[in-house]
Amino acid sequence: MPKILLADPDPRTQSDLSRLLGERGFDFDAATDLAAAMLPIADGEVDLVLADLQLPGGGGIKLLEEIQHVHPDTAVVLLSAFGSVQDAVQAMRHGAADFLGKPFAPDQVLVAIDRALEKAALRKENHALRDALDDRVRLDNVVGTDPRMQSIFKTVKTVADTRTTVLITGESGTGKTLLARSLHSLSSRRHGPFVEVNCGALPETLLESELFGHTKGAFTGAVRDKVGKFEAASGGTIFLDEIGTSSPAFQIKLLRVLQDRVIERVGDTKTVGVDVRIVLATNKDLEQAVASGEFREDLYYRINVVAIEMPPLRERRTDIANLAEHFLRRFAREHGKPAMHFTDRALQALVDSPWPGNVRQLENFVERAVVLGESPEVDLRDLPKAVVAAAATAAATDDGLGDGPILPLKEALAGPERRIIERALAHCDGNREKAARVLGINRSTLFHKLRKYGIR
Ligand SMILES: Nc1ncnc2c1ncn2[C@@H]1O[C@H](COP(=O)(O)OP(=O)(O)OP(=O)(O)O)[C@@H](O)[C@H]1O
Ligand SMILES: [Mg+2]
Repeated sequence: MPKILLADPDPRTQSDLSRLLGERGFDFDAATDLAAAMLPIADGEVDLVLADLQLPGGGGIKLLEEIQHVHPDTAVVLLSAFGSVQDAVQAMRHGAADFLGKPFAPDQVLVAIDRALEKAALRKENHALRDALDDRVRLDNVVGTDPRMQSIFKTVKTVADTRTTVLITGESGTGKTLLARSLHSLSSRRHGPFVEVNCGALPETLLESELFGHTKGAFTGAVRDKVGKFEAASGGTIFLDEIGTSSPAFQIKLLRVLQDRVIERVGDTKTVGVDVRIVLATNKDLEQAVASGEFREDLYYRINVVAIEMPPLRERRTDIANLAEHFLRRFAREHGKPAMHFTDRALQALVDSPWPGNVRQLENFVERAVVLGESPEVDLRDLPKAVVAAAATAAATDDGLGDGPILPLKEALAGPERRIIERALAHCDGNREKAARVLGINRSTLFHKLRKYGIR
């Protein structure tokens, strides 16, 4: 039997509904504020929520939004004693299945419940079907449908559950640390620690004792024994960041750990075995560092077992809009702002920007727009001048999006997408194979789009 949760502080509504739904054999529970309601919902125990618009702790609409974030398949029916048409419109716009004015007749509420449950079941089935059809690889919290990102995700999934050393390279802000964390959380070591060490930030001697630990009296200031990060990461993953700038002496020590899986505490001759997965990252070109003698060749070969190169953001523009929306949702939630959205021209400006600071820079811009923005709409005025300037340059070369009405994103992007494809085809003399390569999409995706836009 479906489980129904009533989120309403009114004892009268509670007892009425509890009786009515009990008679019908529904599994029924009640909560009197938003936080209490979210507990069973977040656990996925609830199929349908009846929520009062004036729910203490944030209101019914807020509850609706939170539900859509954690369990979008849960149906929500909003109730209100002072319901106006505007309230009803707002509720439905936010994705409520129905809206009932109080007081309601028993039949009314039963019909609404049946309908909402039916809709939710259909939606669930659709999602399941879509997931089964969708062959995209997903990593939690990592956005990326660009082919290069997809192939990185595949690698991550393949090697996650091995102890293979992984080297992640790429410009600053491209997501190296995030990927290292994903790798850890996908492995069977996920319940073990994830220990991060910035190898570029510490002077050589400190770094050594930090990583390997030391015994009391090993050097001035070593007043007691200290466990190093390698031992602390036992059973988990150690993430050695900025490995490209580490000293020659440190590189020899690291080579030893990689070869023999043992460490020595500073000031001690005893070796200790370590059970860790090692992930390394650098934004330096290690091959070049090897050529110039800054980085040991033997170490390079040891760590270069599985190498992942994060592409700069400017080389995966198709991900920019998704990343921007992802950050917008996250920051709006974190800063307690209502659901926000980009205007189509603001989004286009973001897509056209060069992003020298990569994903981190985009993330910072979006947070700034959320914090400073006064309306739920993020437009050009909310973006830094540099971004807007980039958009203007793009508009001068392309025919731009104009100042027409704000369209749903998909429709708004269809025009530019079509023009980009046409340009690519013209550039490649109509050779679809080449055009697909230039666009960074596979052939079947291109064919699909050609059909969709009726391009021949
Ligand atoms: N594909 C992505 N999806 C979602 N968030 C991302 C993605 N890539 C990066 N981020 C976010 O962008 C920010 C920068 O990423 P991260 O810190 O992993 O970059 P980095 O390559 O380690 O940078 P640095 O070289 O400066 O250490 C983080 O907040 C991260 O969560
Ligand atoms: Mg990092």
